[in-house]
Amino acid sequence: MERAGLSKREVEDLLNRFEQTNIGFDSGKIFGSMCTSPHPFALEVHSRFHESNLGNPGLYPGTVEMERSVISMVGDLLNLSEPYGHVLSGGTEANITAMYTAKKRSGKRSVLYPRSSHFSVLKAVRLLDMNPIPVDLDENFRMDLGDLESKMDDSLAMVIAVAGTTELGAVDPISEISDIVGDVDLHVDSAFGGFVLPFLEEMNMVEGRVGPWDFRVDSVTTMSTDPHKMGLATIPSGCLLFREPHPLRHLAVESPYLTSPKAYTLAGTRDSGAVASTFATMKHLGREGYCKLVKRCMDNTQYLGTRLLELGLQTVMDPVMNIIAVHHEEPQIVQNKMAQRDFHISKVCEPSALRFVVMPHVGSEPIDRMIEALEQVLKDI
Ligand SMILES: Cc1ncc(COP(=O)(O)O)c(C=O)c1O
Repeated sequence: MERAGLSKREVEDLLNRFEQTNIGFDSGKIFGSMCTSPHPFALEVHSRFHESNLGNPGLYPGTVEMERSVISMVGDLLNLSEPYGHVLSGGTEANITAMYTAKKRSGKRSVLYPRSSHFSVLKAVRLLDMNPIPVDLDENFRMDLGDLESKMDDSLAMVIAVAGTTELGAVDPISEISDIVGDVDLHVDSAFGGFVLPFLEEMNMVEGRVGPWDFRVDSVTTMSTDPHKMGLATIPSGCLLFREPHPLRHLAVESPYLTSPKAYTLAGTRDSGAVASTFATMKHLGREGYCKLVKRCMDNTQYLGTRLLELGLQTVMDPVMNIIAVHHEEPQIVQNKMAQRDFHISKVCEPSALRFVVMPHVGSEPIDRMIEALEQVLKDI
C-alpha cells in the first residue's frame, strides 16, 4: 500500500485499466452466465442504501422492513402466504443455511441430492461434515424416483430437489419426490427457476411439462431463490424461505454488543443495498414486468435453438426455461476456441454438451454474431 495516497485521478486511471479488461453483459459476448445487467433502477437504489447494515438491524428498521417485504413478495411467487427467512448473499449461502438447519433439527448427517445439483451443495456437505448421497437422473434429466426411493433410510437430515437445474434448466418432479420423502426436510433449490417458473406458469408456457414445484407441495420445508439472477436485482441478493419459523432457532447466536439480541444469518455485516435494489425492482416491475422479461428470454431461447439446429447441432432436451444445451463431443475445445474469438459460452459434462443461458442481455443480434463465430469454430476443429 502507498504511504501517501494517490490522487483520485491516478486511481481512476487504474480503475479504467481494470474495467477495460472486464467483459460487460452489454458487450453481447456472454452466453454462459446466470447473472445479467441489473435493472437501472436497481443500480440507482443500491447506492442509496449502502450505509445500512442488516447485521445490526436495530439501527435500520426501514431496511429490515424492506427485507421482510422482499421475503413476503418472494413468498407470494413461491406460493407461501406467511414465509420466514432472509435475503442472503446468493444461492450458495442459502443452500448452506438450509442444510445447516436440517442437520441441526434432525441431528442426522445424510443428504440426498440429484446429480444435477449445483456444486454449492458439495461445498455445504464439506463445511457441515455431512454424508452426501447423490441420486441418479432419469432420461429427462430429472431426479430418478426409483433411485431416490431405494436410497431413503433413517440417517437422512434432508432431501434436496432442484427447480431449474443450473446446466439444463430441468425441474425435478417435486410432488412425486414429496410422496417419497415423508417427514424428512425437503429443500427446493430454485436459485435460478424462482424468477422464471412463476411467470412461465402465469403465461401458461409450461402446462403439462412442470408440476407443482414450490410450497404448494406440502412437504417442501425450505426454498432458495436468487433475485440477482433473473430478478434483475444487484449482486448479492439470494433469498432463503422457511415454511415454519421454528427451524430458524437453530441458526440463532447471541449477539450481545449489537442492537438485536440474536443473529440468524451466516454473514455478520450484511449488504443492504442489494436488499433495497431487490425491493425496488420487484415493486417496479411487478408480475407483468417479469412476465414480459421471461417471455422475451424464451423467444430468444427458441430463436437460438433454431440457429443451433441450422448448424446441425441437436438439443439435449427441449428447453423448459431460458437455458439450452446441444450435444457435442468436445465442449471444452469449442468453449476455448469461442473464448479466443471473445464469445463466452458454457458447457455441460454429462451429457457432453455446449450450454447457453439466454439471459435478458442475450438478444437476437448477439445470437447471430455468436452463431457466425460458432460456425467457424465448428468448421475448424
Ligand atoms: C440451482 C443453483 N443453485 C445455487 C446456485 C449458486 O448461486 P450463487 O452463485 O448465487 O451462490 C446456482 C448458481 O448458478 C444455481 O444455478
